Amino acid sequence: MNKIKIAFFDTKPYDRFYFEPLLQEPALNLHVKFLQARLTADTAALAGGFDGVCIFVNDTVDATAAEILHRLGIKLIALRSAGFNNVDLEAIRGKIPAVRVPAYSPHAVAEYAVSLLLTLNRKTHKAYSRIRDGNFSLVGLEGAVLHGKTVGIIGTGLIGRITAEILRGFGMEVIASDPYPQTEWAAAHGVQYTERADLLRRSDIISLHCPLTPENRRLIGREALASMKSGVIIINTGRGGLIDTRALIKALKENRIGGAGLDVYEEEDGYFFEDHSGEVIQDDMLARLLTFPNVLITSHQAFFTHEALQEIAKTTLENFRLFFEKGELPNEIKVQ
Ligand code: NAI
Repeated sequence: MNKIKIAFFDTKPYDRFYFEPLLQEPALNLHVKFLQARLTADTAALAGGFDGVCIFVNDTVDATAAEILHRLGIKLIALRSAGFNNVDLEAIRGKIPAVRVPAYSPHAVAEYAVSLLLTLNRKTHKAYSRIRDGNFSLVGLEGAVLHGKTVGIIGTGLIGRITAEILRGFGMEVIASDPYPQTEWAAAHGVQYTERADLLRRSDIISLHCPLTPENRRLIGREALASMKSGVIIINTGRGGLIDTRALIKALKENRIGGAGLDVYEEEDGYFFEDHSGEVIQDDMLARLLTFPNVLITSHQAFFTHEALQEIAKTTLENFRLFFEKGELPNEIKVQ
């Protein structure tokens, strides 16, 4: 039987490490070609001769790329991620189904969101380099006790709920907003739902765990930032587009923000996941963000754990197998 051919875009060494052993399984009728290129309208032609494509968060299936993939006869787009804002669902509707890995390790992301908060709050990122430089002074490293403070969780899906539970363990007041509240869970964990506007006003810390949709784009903009408590710490492990970066920079310059822990950034696909250390950063907003002592940026690494990578590989290959062998799409991304 001819093998099903998959073009695997934006391959990193860790992808091969986790996918290749699973591909040895003889019953798995897949041939995967690992490509370094990201999928964009310019590179979509590389999918010629393949049956499916496998993509990650910074590959882009816009209307042009979708049209090319369709013309090339691509039958399935499999995302190695949970978020799918990089795929134009209208453009692929009725042409190519898309699947994702809905939950590869919500604990990984929740624990990481908390680690960003702890680092920013207690300034361990600064202490680390200070001590290595022989500077043992404590001046400027003062933090605050989290116990008793109020944290607002925006989006109580899998990741938001685990983050809330961890922070309840710290003795924090947890308030949350979500258009689909999980009332039983909230009652069991002492979490209070409230309107977003109220959450923004009351929270000492705000952590974003909702998906990036057209409605959620720049959810944290000028007005939202103006309504927050002075000194608020904002954590974003959701998607960069949830925050209006320009408005955040303005609020940071005005000393209204206590800290921002950003694992994602609006324009991250030009930089994140790649080594640009030998170049001048051309993105002025990113460069400005990097100058603030109370901003901690990481390169979309919240998911990046052994467990999550293993789960991504397993579920992605199962997504391909079920579709090509049985026509099943258990993890299909549906247009709302
Ligand atoms: P989920 O689908 O389980 O939960 C999302 C929740 O957000 C849902 O309950 C939904 O009702 C809620 N929501 C939607 N719009 C909202 C709004 N305007 N305000 C408040 N709540 C809203 O998703 P999960 O697994 O918890 O992931 C959340 C997001 O985290 C993903 O969409 C993805 O963008 C991001 N993510 C980031 C990773 C990283 O490595 N940094 C890794 C995995 C996911």
